[in-house]
Amino acid sequence: MLTDSFGRTIRYLRVSVTDRCNLFCNYCRLPNETLSPNNRELLDFDELVRLLRLFLALGVERIRLTGGEPLLRRNIVGLVQEIAQLPGLRELTLTTNALLLARHAAALRAAGLHRVNISLDSLHPHTFDRITQPHRLLPDLPSERQEVLGLPAVLAGIDAALRAGLQPVKINMVVMRGINDSEIVDMVQFAHRHGLLLRFIETMPVGEAGMEMADHFIPAEEILQRIQNHFASQLIPVEDKRGSGPARYFRLADSAAELGVISARSRHFCDTCNRMRLTSKGSLVYCLGRSDRMDLKQLLRNGASDAELQAAILAAVALKPQQHEFNQSEFYRPGNRMSALGG
Ligand SMILES: C[S@@+](CC[C@H](N)C(=O)[O-])C[C@H]1O[C@@H](n2cnc3c(N)ncnc32)[C@H](O)[C@@H]1O
Repeated sequence: MLTDSFGRTIRYLRVSVTDRCNLFCNYCRLPNETLSPNNRELLDFDELVRLLRLFLALGVERIRLTGGEPLLRRNIVGLVQEIAQLPGLRELTLTTNALLLARHAAALRAAGLHRVNISLDSLHPHTFDRITQPHRLLPDLPSERQEVLGLPAVLAGIDAALRAGLQPVKINMVVMRGINDSEIVDMVQFAHRHGLLLRFIETMPVGEAGMEMADHFIPAEEILQRIQNHFASQLIPVEDKRGSGPARYFRLADSAAELGVISARSRHFCDTCNRMRLTSKGSLVYCLGRSDRMDLKQLLRNGASDAELQAAILAAVALKPQQHEFNQSEFYRPGNRMSALGG
């Protein structure tokens, strides 16, 4: 039902539940970026669930909760429970930095969450801290407590996700030349050792922070080549894994373990894009690489009926552009922040 003007059907909605985050990843947030809005600007649970019910009635089947850091949203487990019960939902997933996952994984699974994607860009505490700057939010935390903020907490979160059955657990690594690209092979080995599905992500020029990381961009083909060189083995495409997501999957010729690449920039996948994004402040964003959006919160708060909201959603889908503008210089728009768009 939600088919755009290029014949693509929208079945997947990424929902940012907060634009607050407990990390300051260098490709996502600027050092001086201020923290966000007063909570009244966020959709409350009733508003969000009402909108999601309408999206599902229009044909959306999969919902991913993201942010900011979704586990910072108060009572995220209760929200998951409400969404999981909505009619028409086939899959409910969540993208997280996993800092708080160890304490929530089992409850999230019990509430109806199917899977998690976890962002992990380095296995070295020093590099992890350099990229994510975990201590910025709590600079005065005593050193013996700092591990709650850093790599050990993420590793504990991954372990908890596996134990809770939030599987397959996918790991997303944003690869940056000169920062963490020396860890590509280590990450492959780590993922395979722990039964994780690793995906390498190209840096995207979204927002000012993303633009600043453009100098560190590494194309997916180079990442794949480096893996082949190291293992002296061909990477074979895994076709049946393609599905409707953006990743291309491969396995090494002499191994059953798989890995993926998400090459939004070097080899875009806009012609099969099946998704839209709902920001935490209730705007529907048609494309990660464009700034156009429709303000659904204003309609909601002005008393729009379900029919009016659905008409607005249909109108928004009709405006979905053919492709992103990542490779065009005019894409630069400081207002587009990944932490607000929901990555
Ligand atoms: C914005 S985060 C939000 C969810 C959660 N806080 C997390 O860390 O996974 C979602 C994803 O967007 C990715 N991301 C953010 N900015 C990016 C950029 N400029 N280029 C590529 N990926 C980016 C992150 O690595 C993460 O995997």
